[in-house]
Amino acid sequence: MSLIKLITSGLKGDTKIVNAYYCDISPCVDCRHCWKNSGCAINDEMQDVYKYIEECDNVVIASPIYFSELTGKLLDIGSRLQTYFCGEYFRKEELNIKPKKGAVILVGGGDGKIERAYETACTLLHHMKCYDIHDVVYSHNTNLVPALDDKQAVKGINNLIEFFNGSDKEKSS
Ligand SMILES: Cc1cc2nc3c(=O)[nH]c(=O)nc-3n(C[C@H](O)[C@H](O)[C@H](O)COP(=O)(O)O)c2cc1C
Repeated sequence: MSLIKLITSGLKGDTKIVNAYYCDISPCVDCRHCWKNSGCAINDEMQDVYKYIEECDNVVIASPIYFSELTGKLLDIGSRLQTYFCGEYFRKEELNIKPKKGAVILVGGGDGKIERAYETACTLLHHMKCYDIHDVVYSHNTNLVPALDDKQAVKGINNLIEFFNGSDKEKSS
């Protein structure tokens, strides 16, 4: 997705992209292993993603809008955050996740609504311990106008780059 290339080209430090379409990550099957045990019983690529989530400083959820929601593949990955939910509410553990900043980038082929997808993405970001979530960046109507030609979306991406590259100290001053 062109907006992801744009943001990663401006970010300082290392970036890791988890491409929901092509990674090997199954959805949560509610096996309830994590009601009592930390981690997840499904041994797939998500095990690496948990490590990234726990260590990284920032996280971006980027998705095309499908039926006003995040894509099914992205929701599959999101469902695996259930172990964090259970850690907090069932196992009552202190989770070892670095508090981080978060953002959401959405694109829609039509002039559809982003609210539902944005709300879902924010729920997932909260489970990843995002304490500061930037205003959503989105581009509508990409079937007619490519997202990179959408000035408001490109400006939004530049704002996100500043948001992530600036230190918390700079932000609060
Ligand atoms: C299954 C499916 C459902 C979609 N639902 C919506 C929708 O609800 N609203 C919308 O604006 N676009 C919808 N689209 C269009 C996609 O958002 C669009 O194809 C995508 O954003 C294109 O991204 P790109 O311009 O980065 O290639 C849908 C597309 C598919 C394949």
